[in-house]
Amino acid sequence: MRLFQLIFGIALMIQPALGQYCLSPNKQINVAFAVNKKGVPTYQIQYKQKPVILESSMGFELVKDDDLMENFKVLDVIYDTKDEVWNTVWGEEREIRNHYNEMLVILQQKKTSRRMNIRFRVFNEGVGFRYEFPQQADLGHFIIQQERTSFTLTGDHTAHWIPGDYDTQEYDYTTSRISKIESLFDVALTGNASQEQFSITGVQTALMLKTDEGLYINIHEAALLDYPAMHLNLTPDTYTFESWLTPDAVGNMAYMIVPHNTPWRTVMVSDDARDILASRMTYNLNEPCAIEDTSWIKPMKYIGVWWEMITGKSSWSYTDDFAAIKLGQVDYSEAIPNATHGANNANVKRYIDFAATHGFDGILVEGWNEGWEDWFGHSKDYVFDFVTPYPDFDVKMLNAYAKTKGVELIMHHETSSSVRNYERHMDKAYQFMKDNGYNAVKSGYVGDIIPRGEHHYSQFIVNHYNYAIEKAADYQIMINAHEAVRPTGVARTYPNLVANESARGTEFQAFGGSKPNHTTILPFTRLIGGPMDYTPGVFEMDISKLNPNNNSRVNTTLANQLGLYVIMYSPLQMAADLPENYERFSDAFQFIKDVAIDWDRSVYLEAEPGEFVTIARKAKDREDWFVGNSNGYNKREAAIYLSFLDKDKKYIATIYRDHKNSDYKTNPQAYVIESKKVTSQTVLKLLTVPAGGFGIKITPDE
Ligand code: NOJ
Ligand code: CA
Repeated sequence: MRLFQLIFGIALMIQPALGQYCLSPNKQINVAFAVNKKGVPTYQIQYKQKPVILESSMGFELVKDDDLMENFKVLDVIYDTKDEVWNTVWGEEREIRNHYNEMLVILQQKKTSRRMNIRFRVFNEGVGFRYEFPQQADLGHFIIQQERTSFTLTGDHTAHWIPGDYDTQEYDYTTSRISKIESLFDVALTGNASQEQFSITGVQTALMLKTDEGLYINIHEAALLDYPAMHLNLTPDTYTFESWLTPDAVGNMAYMIVPHNTPWRTVMVSDDARDILASRMTYNLNEPCAIEDTSWIKPMKYIGVWWEMITGKSSWSYTDDFAAIKLGQVDYSEAIPNATHGANNANVKRYIDFAATHGFDGILVEGWNEGWEDWFGHSKDYVFDFVTPYPDFDVKMLNAYAKTKGVELIMHHETSSSVRNYERHMDKAYQFMKDNGYNAVKSGYVGDIIPRGEHHYSQFIVNHYNYAIEKAADYQIMINAHEAVRPTGVARTYPNLVANESARGTEFQAFGGSKPNHTTILPFTRLIGGPMDYTPGVFEMDISKLNPNNNSRVNTTLANQLGLYVIMYSPLQMAADLPENYERFSDAFQFIKDVAIDWDRSVYLEAEPGEFVTIARKAKDREDWFVGNSNGYNKREAAIYLSFLDKDKKYIATIYRDHKNSDYKTNPQAYVIESKKVTSQTVLKLLTVPAGGFGIKITPDE
């Protein structure tokens, strides 16, 4: 620790309140606010009387306008408190408590008279604050050149980070000291799908940190609406991260019209990593549900005509006659179909039958619509129309067939990031879905954004994602958006946003593999903002068995894949592998069939980012519990205390775990299934191998 930090830390312990301050309901967290000598707004955060964020400045640089950085005075401070419970439409729990103390600091810039307020909400597990620009005479429109919110940490903490890319989050995490981030940046970039534009050697949020003293700190944002996503630019000397917004095509960050608020900047802190996973702060900082009738929003377990395309076993495109289609010399009715088109009637019916036999709700079908011969990489504006099926995909027949079997098809809209084209077709596309019996769509944003120069996380495109969610709600359609901006709890307001990808999902296991401990980090980072369509459930780890030209391997054991259904929370949960692979391992497949996707309650049993996560969840409206674990690089024995079970009941636990000889590289399909009588007194000791895990079903023993 540097001398100034030490002195400052001691000063802070003696006198916790500099300027205004606000304590969490349990009094463990303290936020202090002050304007410094130059009139710069500053804040600091303490946890259990020890500094977590040292004095850090706040403000904005504006385009062609006086900055909102200094010269501020405090006009007033208004305190408030809230303690309420709200019901989720779907979730890790049925009810969420929203309990915080609030401090609203009313600021005025002395020379310009402009008003800028900063609202702090202090929860038991962290702090959220946002800037508010109220209606006023002296500030109307303004353009933010850069937000200058800093987060000065107390030392060289361990960080789980991905690079500050403006266009993709699909990276493996790097775990390093803050001081090593710069030197590891190039290594972190290698092997990723897209290496787009960077202006910073910074990182994305949610950023997960751990101090040497064992404090867990998480920095993210909540309620990202009409504003660009925030990355964090690093000044290593002082361990300071500073907000770095995603620019637009001309290099500006945000266009503001007052009254307007920024998203919340969030800092969670605890000495127990499980508290980070259990926190609902991000949802609580979002507005309540804006959809009156939510009865049409339903969690779904689904399979898909998908993994066969991702692995290269089959194709999205209908024909190999690329040139002719591109030049418009033939239309599809004349084109020669290729042998590998996945979304053909017979194959889709096979998946429908499989879904119906095994109790799935939905079947995603990709590559069903015209355009896949020339969809990507050439800035094609008019790319897909989202309503024209290929000749071998009979949309009416297949939806009717699915209906007779009690299942439904899930729509796929790959926008190819031609955002204007998607908005152009959106009403017709959603109406087409309703006319044909689709209630859910997976959308995707692969490639560079059109309009050119915009980025996946800029204000304009953030507005597009939210426009799509609101419009879909008008049509009673659920959305699962891939490659969209990472979520920030907006699903509280729009619960039809049932999932996002927005991180490195299972698809990368077919593109060269992900790090073995990837899913022990995601719950602390990507999942903080909302559910992930991670698409677990791959049983065949050797991808060359599906496609001899693809030598990728899935870097986990089979038992780990089962554990992911519990730890990677999503109301939309896929069984990604091919039906034939599930038929080969039908006993293990039973866990995927049984596992719930909506919950009354969740208990976070064990957690250490990068090392292991174990979660127990009680199925909604049922007495069954499910426990899942994902393990990192080191072989380990998990100790599972079943004290969450009803004290007066007896249960049967069916355990799906790694075999002692299981090895994610050489023997991933070695697993053990065993049943045991258990009670709330039972402690299960379970071995997990590297990249291993387990899934447990616990059901009352009637
Ligand atoms: C990337 C998505 O993540 C993947 O799931 C999808 O199949 C492809 N884009 C094609 O749209
Ligand atoms: Ca993706």
